Amino acid sequence: MADSDRFRPSVPPRFEPYPLKGSGALDWGMQNRLARVFRPATGRTVMLAIDHGYFQGPTTGLERVDLSIVPLLGHADALMTTRGMVRSTIPPASVIPVVLRASGGPSILRELSDEQIAVSMEDAARINASAVAVQVFIGGEFETQSVRNMTRLVDESQRSGIPVLAVTAVGKELTRDARYLRLATRICAELGAHVVKTYFCAEGFDTVTAACPVPVVMAGGKKLPELDALTMAYRAVEEGAAGVDMGRNIFQSDDPVAMMRAIGAVVHQSAKPQAAFDQFLRR
Ligand code: R5P
Repeated sequence: MADSDRFRPSVPPRFEPYPLKGSGALDWGMQNRLARVFRPATGRTVMLAIDHGYFQGPTTGLERVDLSIVPLLGHADALMTTRGMVRSTIPPASVIPVVLRASGGPSILRELSDEQIAVSMEDAARINASAVAVQVFIGGEFETQSVRNMTRLVDESQRSGIPVLAVTAVGKELTRDARYLRLATRICAELGAHVVKTYFCAEGFDTVTAACPVPVVMAGGKKLPELDALTMAYRAVEEGAAGVDMGRNIFQSDDPVAMMRAIGAVVHQSAKPQAAFDQFLRR
């Protein structure tokens, strides 16, 4: 082809937008970081959550992250963890995008909603985080303080280009139904979160994802039988979730690598739960 054909003004400039929900108006750096976490081909993610120690200490399966988690890193799209674990244990040569836990304070012995911002955006940038994660306790005792933690990080994210993932923490006294989850996720998105993590609910989860203008990722929760966890993940993505952020259902599985692969098949290939479970059993 002659140069005159390739360079004519009538040949429109080629531009491939990143199609993640709600991200079209974000700066390039912010979209680029989100594109590391959410695969551009599917717009979804399988995030491995191992940040439990920031309030629970050495949760079962996370006593030795070097032994239990580092071998899994090649199988997840992103790793949600703390700066302490990043610097002490995650290999710097690892290419997995880090979603950095950025709130904390109380342990399981105290009121969990009484969190503060626990990481500066400057340190998140130093760690090369692809996003920061902050807990938001809608309906909790320290609701406003936790929302303020999030909005301060959102303000800082506009300067640094590091997106904010809001985690909707549901206290024991609250019901994880669609009405509550719509309220919590929408508040996070309205106040600037770029991604929201929330629990699945059996009835009306599609209304939660539909009413949230940014991607929703499904939280895992306590360990379930593998087929049940795969079914929950399948239903969540079918009902609009942009993937999952799961911990115990992966690292407490009898075979975490096989479980990660099975979850990946559900999230990225829309594999049916039974097919993904059969894949898990063939490990
Ligand atoms: C949620 O509050 C925290 O981010 C957790 O430490 C973690 O993400 C929970 O993961 P899972 O419930 O799937 O074990």
